[in-house]
Amino acid sequence: MPIQFVKMKRTHTCNQLRASDIGSQATLIGWVNSVRDHGGVIFVDLRDRDGITQVVFHPENADVYAAAQKLRDESVIQVGGEVRKREEGTVNESLATGEVELDCTKMTIHNICDVLPFPLDDDKADKVNEDLRLQYRYLDLRRPRNIKLMRMRHKAAKAVRDYLDSQDFTEVETPVLFKSTPEGAREFLVPSRLNPGQFYALNQSPQQYKQMLMVAGIERYYQLAKCFRDEDLRADRQPEFTQIDIELSFVEREDMYSLIENMLKKVWKDTLGMDIKTPFLRMPFREAMDKYGVDKPDMRFEMLIEDFTETFKESSFKVFASVANSQDGAVKAINAKGLADITQGELKNLEDFARTLGAKGLAFIKAENGAWKSPILKFLSQAEQDELKKRLNIEDGDIVFFAASKWEQACAILGRIRLEAAKLLTARGKLDIPADDFRFLWVVDFPLMTYDEEAGRYVSTHHPFTSPVEEDIPLLDTNPTVVRGQHYDIVLNGVELGGGSIRIHNPALQEKVFKDVLKIPADVVESRFGYMLKAFKFGAPPHGGIALGLDRLVSILTNRPSIRDIIAFPKTQKGQDLMAQSPCPVTEKQLKDLFISVNEVDAAAK
Ligand code: AMO
Ligand code: AMP
Repeated sequence: MPIQFVKMKRTHTCNQLRASDIGSQATLIGWVNSVRDHGGVIFVDLRDRDGITQVVFHPENADVYAAAQKLRDESVIQVGGEVRKREEGTVNESLATGEVELDCTKMTIHNICDVLPFPLDDDKADKVNEDLRLQYRYLDLRRPRNIKLMRMRHKAAKAVRDYLDSQDFTEVETPVLFKSTPEGAREFLVPSRLNPGQFYALNQSPQQYKQMLMVAGIERYYQLAKCFRDEDLRADRQPEFTQIDIELSFVEREDMYSLIENMLKKVWKDTLGMDIKTPFLRMPFREAMDKYGVDKPDMRFEMLIEDFTETFKESSFKVFASVANSQDGAVKAINAKGLADITQGELKNLEDFARTLGAKGLAFIKAENGAWKSPILKFLSQAEQDELKKRLNIEDGDIVFFAASKWEQACAILGRIRLEAAKLLTARGKLDIPADDFRFLWVVDFPLMTYDEEAGRYVSTHHPFTSPVEEDIPLLDTNPTVVRGQHYDIVLNGVELGGGSIRIHNPALQEKVFKDVLKIPADVVESRFGYMLKAFKFGAPPHGGIALGLDRLVSILTNRPSIRDIIAFPKTQKGQDLMAQSPCPVTEKQLKDLFISVNEVDAAAK
């Protein structure tokens, strides 16, 4: 038991008393989980973060009995008395302390709880509107399930620290107030009072600082780092989040893989007691896109995408034939096995998803009662049908979806359909994904650059500090899109858990990537990255690193659907803290001190 403080002395937690304690005196302290008045005897279930113990108040102890009558749920009390055996037939098997109860003869009431805004039992609270729970987050967190989640998060972070410490890493804190680097995600800006008209940006990640630490000779750095990004928020995205940020000198990709695999092995062992298998699977980016339609494949179920571009080149179905013969065009299909009973509404939803990704339609074939039904069946030759049947293993009860588009778009459309179909199959009980199924995967061989049609130039797939694969360097001038980057992503159950790379440490190559490939103007390179290029001229070691999202890691580990569940004080989709009510307006004086004037905020934009 941890150190006890004299005034609030308790002899046990609420999860400790057992039959062997019967007859001894005990003092407990905690929250009233429930009060039941059984005509003459009052029962209180007393709860602390460890568990629950039943406390009994008898009328013979008139003072405490009278006081107990005023107790309300979630009041804080301290109770003392004798540990008694529960009466025959009242033993509670589901409680660790279920054989005993505390016969209360002494009580201190520390706080009487007001009427609660929502019930705290897990079943009921889970159904309460999330905004209300976030407004009273301290109550929501007090639920045993949520306290357990916080403790799991702590354990995961501790396992990371223990592991990295055992590998001779040094945790170094880097500044949160950084400089603006607009190439990445949108940033939060912070005005500088001492430098009027100038701004810091909150760091999106400690990327540049950790590279400077390598130049500084730290060799093995890590940090559980707070990062800030002003992005559109989703279930797995928060404006502030935590990275397990790692950087090492004198490493190659293989070293990174085994380091991270061993770290995650320890995290799973120390939190869930589970042995995860290493090494993890590896998959080239191109294969991930081709088969799963996404660069973060969920490997817990099959349903692979097949390519029929060749099959449809001569087709009389013009929609497919013209795409199949076009530059970078692809015709792809996926068999959602057993989903022929899809409803009209569900089908329409899938088509809408496909359209939001740029699809012109979502052709399908249903195999039902021994026949194929499809709006496009009449256009498909027997040979085409045979090919589809064979390669997609089409059987009665299946439905096949098609996407004909540019390769990347066709992949993305069916990647999305694959995930949605899996949800529909799960809801029908036709697909069962166990909660403790963890499929780790390294996605590798990303292209260093991708061409951004909108911007009309190449952009880094990862970030501009990623090193090209050595033998591809000459292609930077001639054919940048085929240059592979030394970039790796770690994926778990369809979520990008982390990403990193071996970095450029040669100043000339880094400058070339900025100026010649990414076409960042020389003066901008100088003002944003000049210090980095200079540092690389003063003995920069070869180095590489990775960052894993701690929030995502813990939410998957604990099987929670949103990272909000495992962040103590998360923000809403609109980036608000409903408990403290931020963001909020500030005074004129504060703005004046910062040389800022706020334009009239359009009510509609709020
Ligand atoms: P990247 O931008 O891929 O890489 O981020 C690494 C990991 O951080 C997590 N993450 C987030 N988690 C919650 N909310 C967000 N808004 C959010 N954004 C990112 C993800 C992601 O995989 N400096 C590089 C890493 C490196 O090269 O070492 C970086 O930040 O889990
Ligand atoms: P159409 O001949 O345009 O009416 O299309 C016939 C069927 O093919 C419809 O079900 C469309 O939704 C679908 N479809 C049209 N274009 C595409 C495409 N590019 N990819 C997949 N399906 C398509």
